[in-house]
Amino acid sequence: MRFVLAGVAVAGYVLMGLGLRSAGVQENASRPEFYTTKVEPILQSNCYKCHAGMFHRGGLNLKTRDGMLHGGHHGAAVVPGDPAKSLLVLLMRHEGSTDELGPMPPKKPKMSDADIAVVEQWVKAGAIMPEAAAKP
Ligand code: HEC
Repeated sequence: MRFVLAGVAVAGYVLMGLGLRSAGVQENASRPEFYTTKVEPILQSNCYKCHAGMFHRGGLNLKTRDGMLHGGHHGAAVVPGDPAKSLLVLLMRHEGSTDELGPMPPKKPKMSDADIAVVEQWVKAGAIMPEAAAKP
C-alpha cells in the first residue's frame, strides 16, 4: 500500500512538473523576447536571404510583423493565434504547397521539428514582436 501511495505521489509530481513546464512555454511565447531570442534567429538563417532586406520573394517581407500579416501574392503569411491557417507555418511543414508555392525554404531539407515548433508556438501565442521589429 505504501508503495502504491508513493507511486501516486511521484506520478503527481511528474505531471505537475510537466504542466508547469508547458504553461511556462505558452507564457514565454507571447513575450517579445521570445521573438528576438528564439524566432528571429530561425527566420534569419532560413528565410531572410529571400524575404528581407533587398529581397521580398513572392512579394513577402518577413522582417516585420506588418510584412507577415500583409503577406505576399497569396495573402497573409501569418494569422496570429492560428498556425494551421498561417502559410508561413504550412510551407515550413511542407504542407499547403500548390503548383505555384513550394515548401520553404525551397530546395533545402525540411527544417527541424524543434525549429518549426518554436515558430508555431509563437504564431499561436499571437505573433508578438517588440515594437521596433514590428514596424516596417
Ligand atoms: C532561396 C530563396 C527563398 C528562401 C530561403 C525562402 N523563400 Fe519563401 N519564397 C521564395 C520564392 C521565390 C517565393 C515565391 C513563390 C515560389 O516561387 O515558390 C516564396 C514564397 C513564400 C511564401 C508565399 C508568399 C506568397 O504569398 O506568395 C511564403 C509564406 C514563404 N515564401 C515563406 C518562407 C519562409 C517561412 C521561409 C523560411 C523558412 C522562406 N520562405 C525561405 C523564396 C525563398
